[in-house]
Amino acid sequence: ITSIIIALLGGYALGSIPFGLVIARLFGQGDIRAIGSGNIGATNVLRTGRKDLAALTLLLDAGKAGIAALIINHFLGAPFGLMAGAAALIGHCFPVWLKFKGGKGVATFFGALLATQWQVFLAAAVIWLLTAFISRMSSLGALAAAGTAPFVARYFGFDNVAMMAAVMAVIIYVRHHENIMRIIKGTESKIGQKGAKPT
Ligand code: G3P
Repeated sequence: ITSIIIALLGGYALGSIPFGLVIARLFGQGDIRAIGSGNIGATNVLRTGRKDLAALTLLLDAGKAGIAALIINHFLGAPFGLMAGAAALIGHCFPVWLKFKGGKGVATFFGALLATQWQVFLAAAVIWLLTAFISRMSSLGALAAAGTAPFVARYFGFDNVAMMAAVMAVIIYVRHHENIMRIIKGTESKIGQKGAKPT
């Protein structure tokens, strides 16, 4: 039980660092929540026009979940590493620092998967890339990758990973509810578009 608490709290603490917000502010882009979708993730940082800052956000957001999973995995074992990865995603989506209004969990999802089961990561990354490339929508890529990852993990026999991926997928879908409505209405912004804040 102590291991569970350490895994969850450690993951949450690391995950709740809002790198997108910090990086955008640090490099003179102001409050990232005031532009584009208002999200603190890499996709929205890209809407500032700064690809480098978006890439850095993606790397650090994915990295914090991966590092949390790896550290806990090393000291407490694989199942706890999975818990820490999922907890990092929860920390990113619901950070105590931002009154629990955080990001959408896509980068942390990929970081946690890469650190725990690279095969499932690879499959999810390919699905994201294909969907995002065809649709030009980052959110649709995320929804496709997150929605299929639990099944991919289950298919390969990684049942614990499937469970972690399912928890993460549910949160990602909940956090994308506005994106889902925009996708249905046909108003979701395309990758590379700077665009005003959607209604
Ligand atoms: O990574 C989050 C992405 O799926 C959607 O972001 O800013 O378009 O709502 P955004």
